[in-house]
Amino acid sequence: MPQRVFTATVVGIEAFPVEVEVDLAFGLPGTTIVGLPDSAVKESRERIRAALRNSGYDYPDRKVTINLAPADIRKEGAGFDLPMAVGLLAAIGVLPEGAPSGHLFLGELALDGRLKATRGVLPVALMARERGFDALVVPQENGSEAALVPELRVLAFEHLSQVVEYFHGRFEPEAPALPPRSAPAYHEDLADIVGQEQARRALEVAAAGGHNLLLIGPPGAGKTMLARRLPTILPEMSFEEALETTRIYSVAGLLSPERPLVTSRPFRSPHHTISDVGLIGGGTQPRPGEISLAHNGVLFLDELPEFNRRVLEALREPLEEGRVTITRATGSVTFPARFMLICAMNPCRCGYYGDPRRACQCSLQEIRRYRSRLSGPLLDRLDIHLEVPAVDYRELSSDRRGEPSESVRERVILARRVQEKRYGRPGKLNAHLTAREVKEWCVPDEAGRRLLEAACERLGLSARAYHRILKLARTIADIEGSENISAAHLSEAIQYRSLDRPFYGY
Ligand SMILES: Nc1ncnc2c1ncn2[C@@H]1O[C@H](COP(=O)(O)OP(=O)(O)OP(=O)(O)O)[C@@H](O)[C@H]1O
Ligand SMILES: [Mg+2]
Repeated sequence: MPQRVFTATVVGIEAFPVEVEVDLAFGLPGTTIVGLPDSAVKESRERIRAALRNSGYDYPDRKVTINLAPADIRKEGAGFDLPMAVGLLAAIGVLPEGAPSGHLFLGELALDGRLKATRGVLPVALMARERGFDALVVPQENGSEAALVPELRVLAFEHLSQVVEYFHGRFEPEAPALPPRSAPAYHEDLADIVGQEQARRALEVAAAGGHNLLLIGPPGAGKTMLARRLPTILPEMSFEEALETTRIYSVAGLLSPERPLVTSRPFRSPHHTISDVGLIGGGTQPRPGEISLAHNGVLFLDELPEFNRRVLEALREPLEEGRVTITRATGSVTFPARFMLICAMNPCRCGYYGDPRRACQCSLQEIRRYRSRLSGPLLDRLDIHLEVPAVDYRELSSDRRGEPSESVRERVILARRVQEKRYGRPGKLNAHLTAREVKEWCVPDEAGRRLLEAACERLGLSARAYHRILKLARTIADIEGSENISAAHLSEAIQYRSLDRPFYGY
């Protein structure tokens, strides 16, 4: 009778149960693994052989067949070591009859029999609870990650021999420590930024209404510094949000035993040479890209015009849907990807166009070419464009500090609450309004309407720009706690559309 042990495989961020069947037969000694294993799974053979021997168990001197079912899901990674070893131990009678049933096993083996951490434990734990497994058996280092899932029995071991002793009732593992739900800790604060009142304000408006933004300014103006501080003024993640983000990090193998739960909003800043797979996700075994690692946080694209156009085009779907679907011959995988986008660029190639400190070296044509590299559809999704001039060095050397992130964040939270109440849906913000909803919810008062009409005529604004200005004005009014959208709100909003001005930069 073959022995059966359960494990799991992760496709995207979803885990599926896999049954490991171990059969011993008379014949030439050797081990065959069947059922669509990848090369890493095939290497398990050698690791398991060494781990068993070094833990004091004999590797069966028989013809061993290990079958992974269902056969149509590709099995990858080293997490099958432990379930296969347990199946073998059961087959040779080292484990009591029927002992592993109802348990789900996941873990890599070191040659000396120690259990090594694997990725994807959180999705597997969620699946194990959903499917009603009695317990999940994982390496010690993955224990607290698995323990994030309530109402699931987690058994975390350091060594294969402990697993055997446990099933004989001679060893009881310690319950894994629940990760502390500490408040997020950021190393940066808005208070570090001297001056830049307008940019700080734009950052607050962006955070309050969920608006994506583009900062344009010369080198050293503090664009990168500002962008890095955006997560610090966003509301704390809820436990559900933290779990969602953690699940992605788990699959990407980016969790550490010390930090099994991602509690700070992510800030991802990929270099402009990144490939589309790196940014969007993919590969033969699809892995999340930077946009998914930024889920519930911030994606920062510095030097925006330097990014490959095709890479930027691929941002359209996630920016609209909050997720990305990757299609492969083997099927498609969906990763969550809801993030705030913040981009930065110089006003021209040399960086100094319009800077009083230094003359710009670019010709008008070069400036045009540089700007034209921004793809229209992406630009369309950036509600705020803001020029950030360099701060005077005398100001920089003063020890004046700006308003700290914490008090800005309080206003952001209040403004978001107003929006969620108005739209009757948690997480719905002004930036997400459709054209129809803008008509319904973003109606300026009489003076505001006249101002906007005049501005449109003077600046030649498009219908899209018009809608964006209304949404921004809605957010500005919401920060102030005003139901009414006034001319003052609108005139501030119009300032956040520098690239709409036809004469800008020429
Ligand atoms: N407003 C400011 N307050 C405090 N420090 C500042 C400010 N602006 C610039 N700095 C200082 O200048 C340095 C450069 O800023 P930062 O890297 O953010 O500029 P940047 O606009 O991103 O430039 P680049 O276009 O070269 O990327 C910062 O590390 C910081 O020390
Ligand atoms: Mg920079």
